[in-house]
Amino acid sequence: MTLTAQDMTEIRRDFPILQTTVRGKPLVYFDNAATTQKPRACIDAIKKYYEHENANVHRGVHYLSEIATQHYEDARQLLARFIHAPSPNNIVFTRGTTEAINLIAHGFAEAILQPEDEIIISAMEHHANIIPWQIACQKTGAKLRIVDLHDDTSLNIGHLTSLLSDKTKLIALCYISNTLGNINPIKSVIDLAHIRAIPVLVDAAQSVGHIPTDVQQLDCDFFVFSAHKMYGPTGVGALYATSHWLNKLPPYQGGGDMILRVTFDSATYQQPPHKFEAGTPPIAEVIAWAASIQYLQQLGIEKIQAYEQSLSDELHHQLKLLTFIQLIGTTPTKTSIVSFTHKTAHPHDMATILDDHGIAIRAGHHCTMPLMNYLHVNATARASLCFYNTVEEIETLVRALKMIEALFS
Ligand code: ALA
Repeated sequence: MTLTAQDMTEIRRDFPILQTTVRGKPLVYFDNAATTQKPRACIDAIKKYYEHENANVHRGVHYLSEIATQHYEDARQLLARFIHAPSPNNIVFTRGTTEAINLIAHGFAEAILQPEDEIIISAMEHHANIIPWQIACQKTGAKLRIVDLHDDTSLNIGHLTSLLSDKTKLIALCYISNTLGNINPIKSVIDLAHIRAIPVLVDAAQSVGHIPTDVQQLDCDFFVFSAHKMYGPTGVGALYATSHWLNKLPPYQGGGDMILRVTFDSATYQQPPHKFEAGTPPIAEVIAWAASIQYLQQLGIEKIQAYEQSLSDELHHQLKLLTFIQLIGTTPTKTSIVSFTHKTAHPHDMATILDDHGIAIRAGHHCTMPLMNYLHVNATARASLCFYNTVEEIETLVRALKMIEALFS
């Protein structure tokens, strides 16, 4: 089952921004790995919250506070079901993927890591899954180990296996690379790690809105993601963790709402997930995120996956026909994110010219500078597509790339 032409007409109507024109041309939005657009259901939910329900959560006995609290906690339940978490108590709301990884890295630095311990990441990680570990290592004397990639940029599982030892305290890995689009064999990595009782953190920022998620079937220890990359608002995301880890890790921040009892000398903390949610959370954003998740559920994540796979196949096919374009990363297991370079035009020049055609892509290092160094490229152009994109838009991109070639040759 995939999305039909009729579905596409309706879907595109559900995203008001897709009607935008850019310099007189219809917007072709191919920057979905940076952030996705929002359906009307999400936008309306924010408006409804501020017009009719605005109050702080977990604090008041008054009518509005009870409604806001109910909707905030309903969203946690919905999100738990969406990723097949055993309980809403396994879901901590954060500001996004970055904060979720920082929360875990902070906890590991405080409670787990000793000098000479090791954290394993891969060469294709986003800065958000590198720098928190560098900081944790600086604080504790632990070391960061990097898994190599094969020539086609797929993860070198042999190398990963060779790095595992009694010193390994965590593997932190992206499910889908934000730069290359590679879908990593995350389940195999988790199984491999668990033989040695090593926990695994999955950076799911680029996967959770595009492929079905079942954290219990994956058996991951941590699973982190952002709302804005799955058609929800900015400024909110989530950490899923097993109860074992949520009980074991110390609080990330102190403040209101995460405590049971406070004196000037000490405090007792709430049970997870509230232990990790200090201060007023992004209430409107959480509630609106739930509306986006319901929208995805109505479309069906399996249908979305099938449609995006067909878009990805078409995009790769069309780009491979352009002899002046070099695709970066040729592993066959890929999603609808593609990085490419032109033999002479700099990626930033390409992005600027494409913008003149109404086409939004990202150019640069994509917050993966170490990956750029690893692949010996300064920058790439990146097109990242999702379910509201069309084959006609891919053809618009290809026509514009041919014009760039004519300009630079
Ligand atoms: N992580 C986002 C991207 O890949 C910002 O563009």
